[in-house]
Amino acid sequence: MNNLLEQIQRSKEQIEKFSAEGENRAETFRIHFLGAKGVIKSLMSDMKNVSPEKKREMGQLLNDLKLLAEKKYNELKETNLPTGQTGGNAYTKKDNLIDITLPGEALPLGSRHPISIVRNKIVSIFQRLGFAVAEGPEIEDDWHNFTALNLPENHPARDMQDTFYVSQNPDWMLRTHTSSVQVREMEKGKLPIRIICPGRVYRNETISARAHCFFHQVEGLYVAEEVSFADLKQTLYFFVQEMFGDAVKIRFRPSYFPFTEPSAEMDISCLICGGAGCSVCKHTGWVEILGCGMVHPKVLENCGIDSNKYSGFAFGMGIERITMLKYQIKDLRLFSENDLRFLKQFTSAV
Ligand code: DAH
Repeated sequence: MNNLLEQIQRSKEQIEKFSAEGENRAETFRIHFLGAKGVIKSLMSDMKNVSPEKKREMGQLLNDLKLLAEKKYNELKETNLPTGQTGGNAYTKKDNLIDITLPGEALPLGSRHPISIVRNKIVSIFQRLGFAVAEGPEIEDDWHNFTALNLPENHPARDMQDTFYVSQNPDWMLRTHTSSVQVREMEKGKLPIRIICPGRVYRNETISARAHCFFHQVEGLYVAEEVSFADLKQTLYFFVQEMFGDAVKIRFRPSYFPFTEPSAEMDISCLICGGAGCSVCKHTGWVEILGCGMVHPKVLENCGIDSNKYSGFAFGMGIERITMLKYQIKDLRLFSENDLRFLKQFTSAV
């Protein structure tokens, strides 16, 4: 009798301390303790020798022993799973051949898209001059994309930009330029305003090496008291020098935009041929990079700004054009084809 108690005690210790190597250790354990000829079965058969008054107590102890063995068996099975299956964590899977001290597998690091690199550079140049970044929606209404910018309905200049309209609502369209963000900022009525607005724009153009149905622009706007054309020129000179270096030449040409008066376009000397003439500059030695001008008084008034008190300048440039000049890329379609051979060539330093 005492003998049985001791045996139960001993078995309990053995179960608790059980350890074995290899994949079959759970099965080894089961056969030894829980199998048909195992320890527990044999102890159970010894019960017949126990005196009736002790039977209850011994039966309870044996039952506990069996539960303990079953619990241990389940644990052994769990921690025996091959790598990647659930059950325990890597630190407890001693026999599972996971070496947590091995270095991890390196994930391939992507590179930034050239358009993003150049956009970030443009933003950082203007931020140094005190411009803040503003954003607006890509689906715009007629007021912000056209009317407020002095392009009322039937204005011939609306044809300058072929527009994608939203079919359910003729008042909505994909913005054709980031100038719409100017309007949204001016309408807020907080002056002075000094912002740049990078973003994607859409036009119904046939896709070619020089044109796409979507592209990116950065709009700039400065409205305060006594802003002059000289301020505009100086700002843009600074931008070009920072972007392309001191050697680049700049020229302004008079132009027309409904939302500025006077209006101008800015050219830089061609970076591809150095001004000698090539296909990119159409053999002129100059490449146009942006449109600009003094904000038209009508636009200021449309946005609730007193044009007698305030004046402003605005400009808009295409990021693709700047990127093509910067990296000497000749086909605009490369930017949206997701060809890794192209994309991997760009690092964040410009
Ligand atoms: N919105 C014009 C375009 O997309 C670019 C532009 C020209 C913006 C002159 C301006 C500006 O702010 O003053 O072609």
